[in-house]
Amino acid sequence: MQPDLMIADEPPMGVAYPSARGLASAQALRLGAPIELTVPAYLISHYWWAYVHPRAVRVFERQWLVNLILWGNYPRLSDAALDELGEELSGATLQVACVYGDLTERLCARAAAGRGRIDIVDVLPIQLENLRSKLPHGAPARLLPMNSADLAMPAGSYDRALVFFLLHEQPRHVRERTLAEVARVVRPGGKIVVVDYARPRWWNPLRYLWGPVLALLEPFALDLWRQEIAAWLPGSCTRRVHKRSFFGGLYQKVVLTR
Ligand SMILES: C[S@@+](CC[C@H](N)C(=O)[O-])C[C@H]1O[C@@H](n2cnc3c(N)ncnc32)[C@H](O)[C@@H]1O
Repeated sequence: MQPDLMIADEPPMGVAYPSARGLASAQALRLGAPIELTVPAYLISHYWWAYVHPRAVRVFERQWLVNLILWGNYPRLSDAALDELGEELSGATLQVACVYGDLTERLCARAAAGRGRIDIVDVLPIQLENLRSKLPHGAPARLLPMNSADLAMPAGSYDRALVFFLLHEQPRHVRERTLAEVARVVRPGGKIVVVDYARPRWWNPLRYLWGPVLALLEPFALDLWRQEIAAWLPGSCTRRVHKRSFFGGLYQKVVLTR
């Protein structure tokens, strides 16, 4: 499936939107996708240095660096996400947005063990290309250029979904649409695993150190300090929500059962 993508998002003031759009279109063509791709404005204005620029991928595609940014918690948080999904993943799994490091390779290994398959969606073709270069030949995965806020799959297409450190990057209205879309495409009874930032406990020094850093670099992240993820879920989804905290509350894993 290679759907057409037409996401209307306001270009931010002072941003060279056409060139970023052109860059993404060129990347889309290289990926072989006959698509018209629009990069969300918040990615261009706030995350060009982390995901959009080709040099960003070369710099950040280092697991030790991602682990450093997560204060040494990358293995623990990815283990928590993978273990929640299961050792052997039969059926269909959705990963919403690419992740630096080996998380997706490990997810694919579990899908292979369970004779299942994985779809990974991302709005940036450069991220999908990078992921393709990391996956072993024959991995049971499809890489789909798509916006998490506007998924092209029919309702109930997946048995489970993983959303790893995506929500804190999105403005509230996009975050809500992402959660609504993920809830729509996961079948009733299926599981949605979200791993992301949360408000550290009062005694955690990172509450005072990391807050200003996030405010500077990741302007929407502090929303996850102020509100529970359940606050952005569609009403149909709020009944079965289980939360576990990590690292003095700085991180959370939220499991939703549809
Ligand atoms: C999952 S998040 C953060 C991952 C985390 N910092 C890491 O690499 O460990 C980063 C990805 O989200 C993607 N992304 C952001 N907004 C998106 C959206 N609306 N739809 C699809 N992908 C999106 C970016 O293109 C990027 O590849």
